[in-house]
Amino acid sequence: MYYPEELVEEVRQKNDIVDVISHYVRIKKKGSNYVGLCPFHNEKTGSFMVSQNKQIYKCFGCGAGGNVFSFVMEYENYTFVEAMKYLAEQAGVKLPEAEYNEEARKQQNRRTRLLALNKDAATYFYYQLRAPGGQAGLKYLAGRQLSEETMKKFGLGYANVTSSDLTQYLRSKGYSDEEIRNGGLASFHEKYGMSDKFWNRVMFPIQDINHRVIGFGGRVMGEGEPKYLNSPETEVFDKSRNLYGLNFARTSRKKRMILCEGYMDVIAMHQAGFTEAVASLGTAFTSGQASLLRRYAEDVILAYDSDEAGVRAALRAIGILRDAGLIGKILHLEPYKDPDEFIKNLGEEEFEKRIKEAEDSFSFELRMLERDYDMKVPESKLKFRRAVVEKICQVADQFEDAGPFIESACESYHFDVEEMRRAVITFGNRQETNAGLIRRRAREESRLEKREEPSKLNEKLMLSWLVDEPGLYPKIKQYLSPVDFSTGLCRKAAERLFDALEKGEGVSPSAMMTSLQADESASEEEQKEIASLFCTRISDHLRHMTGGGEAEPEKEELESVMGKDKERMLHDLLVSLKRESLLNMTGENGEKQDFAGIVQAKKALQELQKAHISLE
Ligand code: UTP
Ligand code: MN
Repeated sequence: MYYPEELVEEVRQKNDIVDVISHYVRIKKKGSNYVGLCPFHNEKTGSFMVSQNKQIYKCFGCGAGGNVFSFVMEYENYTFVEAMKYLAEQAGVKLPEAEYNEEARKQQNRRTRLLALNKDAATYFYYQLRAPGGQAGLKYLAGRQLSEETMKKFGLGYANVTSSDLTQYLRSKGYSDEEIRNGGLASFHEKYGMSDKFWNRVMFPIQDINHRVIGFGGRVMGEGEPKYLNSPETEVFDKSRNLYGLNFARTSRKKRMILCEGYMDVIAMHQAGFTEAVASLGTAFTSGQASLLRRYAEDVILAYDSDEAGVRAALRAIGILRDAGLIGKILHLEPYKDPDEFIKNLGEEEFEKRIKEAEDSFSFELRMLERDYDMKVPESKLKFRRAVVEKICQVADQFEDAGPFIESACESYHFDVEEMRRAVITFGNRQETNAGLIRRRAREESRLEKREEPSKLNEKLMLSWLVDEPGLYPKIKQYLSPVDFSTGLCRKAAERLFDALEKGEGVSPSAMMTSLQADESASEEEQKEIASLFCTRISDHLRHMTGGGEAEPEKEELESVMGKDKERMLHDLLVSLKRESLLNMTGENGEKQDFAGIVQAKKALQELQKAHISLE
């Protein structure tokens, strides 16, 4: 599907970025901008900034940034076309109908095909459950006391005992064997050909927050192994960024979420009216999932199994929740093993009561810690006390925050408050440097992962700078032209930008992005990258050059780099761009050996090195 640029631009202009983002993120006005907690990484202080003037957002913590399209694409995990449809609807703009002829169908990208494949498979399983061969499945689900309505709501299905029927069905729907395999629904053996991944299982379709099927979990009938089989990760199924049941839970309008272990627990809770229940997907709870939850709630009730594995999982989850700024509480289900069993035996009122009585995560952690010590032996009790001190230092971000934890610990274990306070300060002081170091290193590592090639970062910085200060253009155009930009996307962007600046047209970062987003030849990767083209900051650049360190966003904003520093920076930037460009012309990845061009470029570089570009 291709939308003309004017239409894309219209949709952008009709969706004010502050309105759209405040629908998802709590942002507060601060100066001329809006500031809040970044929805794309876990943080406790707001480094996420939205500019109404420029119609862009930017996070100084993780580097995310872009216009209203990029935001919706990133947040909802939409493709550009999906973001366009969504925002057009919000603004009441009518889009031309998509044409679904054979040609258009072929053009649909892999992701769309994969989603359609999963949906068709879910439909197939759904009907199999009601088909003559499906009795085993129906009987099992009825045995677990699921109502017809619940089964429908979750789209439960059945993979029968035949091991190639799904493949045949999907082929008949026009999917290639390769697509079916990439979707994780079948595998290929030299000897036997294609065989379905799931058979003899009750099927749980896994949906993303927009109710699209992205994968499956299947529970075996009887005693087979493994008990639950899950789809592998695919282009549309990222296990660490989705939660089972969240598509319903996100609209439950309760201030809490309930996190449990499995599909059946989620379903049983929803059936009992606890529609805020979600589960991680056959893997351990991740920080990506924590940031998902943070969008909807502050309190997370952990409803894990009451066995040792459940305790360990809960302890892990508590730390992750805490890092995300969420409050974790532990649900106690004794004498039952999980929410499903509990509700069946004691009913929803009793369950609600247990939620109200859920234990705060800190005292749960201490109780679990205590199990390792014999409190009747003084030495052991002392060791326990030290461990508690260490825990407090780990939990509280700073001394000033330690008070409530100290009080809570002292109340439970009859420690002396003053003694405890001193111990925390002593231990904290000793640890301070270490803890600080560990945290800093972790931050640097996460940044390293995202590090870009310096040349690309330079190109993006130049583009951003020009959009911010079009007045620079006449001063640099004799040195720099779009052909000096190496990558396809940056060059395309530079061509448009230089063209607009040459004509003296106004340029806004957000509109420049739209112009590239509307380009039908842009790949999905490029669509995502466009977001960063015009909002790369000197701070990103500095951070990159110096190898990390905490950014102080406001101080490092472009505007605050003044006078001579700025001139020197611009000069250095131009020289590196030009040098890189020259290398590209002569090096092995040189496009063509244009000797005249090389000589000319060398001369330009020499001139540039001597030149003084005044910003006065
Ligand atoms: P459990 O074994 O506790 O499952 O695993 P359950 O929900 O109580 O199963 P029922 O009640 O006997 O049907 C908890 C969750 O861990 C994942 C599944 O998500 C399951 O719901 N799991 C478990 C797997 O992914 N694979 C397995 O082999 C087992
Ligand atoms: Mn169970």
